[in-house]
Amino acid sequence: MTSSAQLGVCYYPEHWPESRWETDARLMIEAGIKWVRIGEFAWNRLEPSPGQFEWTWLDKAIQILGEAGLKVVLGTPSATPPYWMLSRFPDMLAVTREGSPRKFGSRRHYSFSHVDYRKAAADMAGAMAERYGRNPHIHAWQVDNEYGCHDTTLSYDRSALMNFRIWLKEKYETIDALNEAWGNVFWSMDYPNFEAVDLPNLTVTEANPAHEMDFRRFASDEVVVWNQAQIKALRQYSELPIIHNYMGRILEFDHFALGQDLEIASWDSYPLGFLEDRSDQDETFKAAYSRQGDPDFQAFHHDLYRAVGKGRWWIMEQQPGPVNWAPFNPAPLPGMVKLWTWEAIAHGAEVVSYFRWRQAPFAQEQSHAGLLSTDAHSMPVMEEVKSVASALGSIDSNSVRSDIAIVFDYSSQWAWEIQPQGQSFDYFRLVYGLYSQLRRRGYGVDIVPSKVKELGDYSHIFIPGLFAWNSSLRDAVRHANGKIIIGPRSGSKTENFSIPDELPPHLPEMDIQIRAVESLRAGALIPLEAIGAAHHWREYTETSEDIILKFADKNPALIGKDNYYYSTAWWDEEGYQTLFEQLDLTQAKLPNGLRYQDFGSYRLYLNYGAQVETFEIEQTQYDIGVAGIRVFEKRDGEYHLMPL
Ligand code: GAL
Repeated sequence: MTSSAQLGVCYYPEHWPESRWETDARLMIEAGIKWVRIGEFAWNRLEPSPGQFEWTWLDKAIQILGEAGLKVVLGTPSATPPYWMLSRFPDMLAVTREGSPRKFGSRRHYSFSHVDYRKAAADMAGAMAERYGRNPHIHAWQVDNEYGCHDTTLSYDRSALMNFRIWLKEKYETIDALNEAWGNVFWSMDYPNFEAVDLPNLTVTEANPAHEMDFRRFASDEVVVWNQAQIKALRQYSELPIIHNYMGRILEFDHFALGQDLEIASWDSYPLGFLEDRSDQDETFKAAYSRQGDPDFQAFHHDLYRAVGKGRWWIMEQQPGPVNWAPFNPAPLPGMVKLWTWEAIAHGAEVVSYFRWRQAPFAQEQSHAGLLSTDAHSMPVMEEVKSVASALGSIDSNSVRSDIAIVFDYSSQWAWEIQPQGQSFDYFRLVYGLYSQLRRRGYGVDIVPSKVKELGDYSHIFIPGLFAWNSSLRDAVRHANGKIIIGPRSGSKTENFSIPDELPPHLPEMDIQIRAVESLRAGALIPLEAIGAAHHWREYTETSEDIILKFADKNPALIGKDNYYYSTAWWDEEGYQTLFEQLDLTQAKLPNGLRYQDFGSYRLYLNYGAQVETFEIEQTQYDIGVAGIRVFEKRDGEYHLMPL
């Protein structure tokens, strides 16, 4: 069955007088919006003091929105525990690595490990589900809000310490096993018992990386367990889909593990905020794309969360204008909000929902745009929303599947943060750089988890920077038919964070031993014999396999055997071109900001660039304006431009 993607919006009825709700609901419907998310920060309005619930305002808001024809996503408010919760649990606050408790006065001020607050949050979710689980206007739940945002996954509080010790006991059973696994003979770090193990902060110099790594795994598991508590509470009363809204480049917990428990993944897409706030691009790039966003950053996350959601994903919050939280907050070019929306749909989004309906005149986000201004005036972006809404009916929502896969592994991010070996070695940066080089050549990419079961049909499977092999990935790699490109740094550690006896890449299929590695300061390039160079990182290997590419200093750069390839370096842009040619990835580079994406029988072209571009499809040239989109439908083997 096919249906079209739909639009939504985030709404805060508690911010506005009741007398306004009907007007807002009507205007949403007039804009073509079908979904509305509410409730996720409203705890103190729903339960102003412990056990005293005030549901009537929410009953009414849901009724008004629902009767207007909107489907409601109801959020559980656990990201904003009210002040009275702190009187109950003064030790529920998260603690920074430096040992300071984080304070009340914004949001996400809790430790995932605080068992009593976890239960209070689950009880609140249960109370909401009991009241609204059978309400015909509620169509989905959102649990909490943006796990991990504002650096909230890792906490060094007392509950975390207690839970960590239990976690370690379950994993190792005996303290001798832990001492052995961590290599605690080094620096006389052996522990006499589990009660002696502390959290890995405030050590004199760096803590043992194996200690840090287990703490990171533990912290990730705590988020999963926290989420499960609310799911269990919701499931007592409701079978509706449960969603969480993830964020961009938040990597401290394993989203694939958490996603197993949810029906749908969603993420919050703030392209301009991300470019300013969490991008590795240089100043020239940022200046060129400041009103459009990095042309690949959104697509990467769409593909990532498509995998996290096992195929089902939404945008829960889409930037509609300037945000308030990045170092600079420019306005998107006219057309960009429409472009971002189409791009998400072309990557398989079922719903794109804008944040927020109306700009708030008070508190932290008063300079954050909405579809309406603070005085309820419709902003020009509303026309972009309407234009997408009216075109969507003619487009089927589609599942997306690409020929190329990149394995993405959260624990590799943690490992290389713990022991980077070179300041610029960041796992996300490595993976994202590769992704972006592929997208610039028009390739669609699937992101797959490192615990993937099979990689059967992909023509190319990239496994860059993988910390340690796991048995399911080893099996999947063994049975894959396509070209498998491994490295750099892949398989360089065991699960216990030490160098494997057989030496990296620890890959029985190839005779390669990496004997030394080097990290490179900014600007240091190791040229290839061919065009291009390594930067950031390269390895010195011994091998009896074919050497396909060499550095000018004769060290192997790309090694091959059958469909296996090992890459010993982090490539610069020209280096990628040379590498791709060797792998038969010969599609030409697109003009700067131009990208395209195939979805079902459609192809979307989009222009992130600040100038008009041209492209050719079946010998016909098309222009695409600044912030422009072009959608083609493939019928009878030919592309037809759709009048959108
Ligand atoms: C998101 C968050 C929203 C709002 C928004 C502002 O990260 O979920 O509640 O704060 O950012 O851009």
